[in-house]
Amino acid sequence: MSTPFSAPSSVTGFAVNLPSDKPDGLLMPAAQLERMPGAVSGKPAAALADRTIRELYVRMDRARYRIIGSGGVFTGDDAYRKIRLGASLVQLMTALIYEGPAVVASINERLAQLLEADGLAHVSQAVGADAPDARAAQRAA
Ligand SMILES: Cc1cc2nc3c(=O)[nH]c(=O)nc-3n(C[C@H](O)[C@H](O)[C@H](O)COP(=O)(O)O)c2cc1C
Repeated sequence: MSTPFSAPSSVTGFAVNLPSDKPDGLLMPAAQLERMPGAVSGKPAAALADRTIRELYVRMDRARYRIIGSGGVFTGDDAYRKIRLGASLVQLMTALIYEGPAVVASINERLAQLLEADGLAHVSQAVGADAPDARAAQRAA
């Protein structure tokens, strides 16, 4: 099956990192924001990163590639959302800065609760569970 998204054979996955655009809904005035180069991390980055995971997951060869999802992960619910959209791994930085390394344990505890509530034994069973069907997405494109 040919997919619209492919990469060299040495590539085994994609990290969905910081969106290059400034996300909507920032409190900083637009004029001030325009003068600031670079990307925005943390919670404001979450929605754009989630959308990227969703779009990538439906287009990529899922047997061949894995997604590392990041952007605004502070809680197990945040991590689980990215996993259900298609991420096999989750990466975080801003939460570590604001909350310290213990945030990882609380994310894992919450993830275990969420998996159990959904009757799943392993994170891999949740990967892509909320992704729109790839063929439906192609029809809509
Ligand atoms: C100052 C800074 C340095 C970063 N350096 C790296 C890096 O070396 N490698 C990497 O994969 N991601 C790097 N990132 C991206 C973060 O790991 C993370 O994917 C991104 O900040 C979005 O997640 P967050 O909202 O949890 O911070 C960096 C981010 C920031 C803000």
